[in-house]
Amino acid sequence: FDVSWDAAAAEKGGWSSFMAKEVAEQPEAVANTIRGRIQGDQVVIPELDGLDELFLGINRIIITACGTAAYSALVGKYAIEQWARIPVDVELAHEFRYRDPVIGDDTLVVSISQSGETMDTLMAVKYASERGARTLSICNTQGATIPRESDAVVYTHAGPEVAVASTKAFSAQITALLLLGLHMGRVRGSVADASADVAELAALPEKIAKVLESEQEHVTQLAGWMADTRSVLFLGRHVGFPIALEGALKLKEISYIHAEGFAAGELKHGPIALIEPGQPVFVLVPSPRHSAVVHSKVVSNIQEIRARGARVIVVAEEGDAAVLPFADEVIRIPLAGAMFEPLLAVVPLQIFAMALATAKGLDVDQPRNLAKSVTVE
Ligand code: G6P
Repeated sequence: FDVSWDAAAAEKGGWSSFMAKEVAEQPEAVANTIRGRIQGDQVVIPELDGLDELFLGINRIIITACGTAAYSALVGKYAIEQWARIPVDVELAHEFRYRDPVIGDDTLVVSISQSGETMDTLMAVKYASERGARTLSICNTQGATIPRESDAVVYTHAGPEVAVASTKAFSAQITALLLLGLHMGRVRGSVADASADVAELAALPEKIAKVLESEQEHVTQLAGWMADTRSVLFLGRHVGFPIALEGALKLKEISYIHAEGFAAGELKHGPIALIEPGQPVFVLVPSPRHSAVVHSKVVSNIQEIRARGARVIVVAEEGDAAVLPFADEVIRIPLAGAMFEPLLAVVPLQIFAMALATAKGLDVDQPRNLAKSVTVE
């Protein structure tokens, strides 16, 4: 009688991989990031209590990060500018720290790091502090070095992330940035009524759960059919642009397939030359309720690539019928506010990357050549 005990399998709690577990944990991760940070119809981050001056005496924000965290930063740029009415730049930490940037005490440098130990991000924070900038970190690991080096910290509370490819930490980072944007908007007086956004935040966990439930099988099947694909393109616009970058990154990281994310508006400036018959292209379609113009421009992009033979896989909100005549596959997400859509749209892309890697027989948790945390130069 042989009882073989596999500690790793036990830790995965019945999931085939840590990544599968962490993707499934996203509703909980996002709920945990929001918890305790909503008071009535306002966002109030208790850790930032008494630190209003971090947000009042500044005239710009730089968000710095590496990898997936830098893509969450791009979503944060749109949200913070919209709500706090302050210019936001996003800079990769390894570029920022070696280029003599113009910063001072009128600058808030926000760093984002799951581990809180990424060397380039840490050095960017130190560099910013030395030059008199205020620093705030968004981090998933309690007591890590980056939060210790920062003036303030907003923890993401996503729970430990084991798979190298980041999923639930990414969703929690975006959530923390949305919270930060609304908190700052309140402090700076630029958000008069946050009630609709607070309702959107509160509804997120359930909506993410809905995407997981309704699209898991469809997207897994799609990935199975595409196991021999050599290249996949991702197009997005507005906050869908960083999600296109993230979708491509996930695919590169774990399935070793060439993938590129583009801003949909750049299509005619280059990427369209890549389109040949059969080329798979994911298109993230923003809701027409947010902007009819932006929606129609993305639908035109879909027509343009379809006319050149692309295999078009659309991620669009429920009920958006404009995409139907030109899409080979339609992945549906629930209706959400403009800034909240990325948290829904990213889920099928994570599932796709994971399912494709699995179909190729690859180890989704430990991709070749990559480390969970890059703590060396
Ligand atoms: C590594 C990981 C990525 C991660 C990046 C930044 O490259 O493989 O998944 O996005 O580091 O890590 P951090 O811990 O700073 O978020």
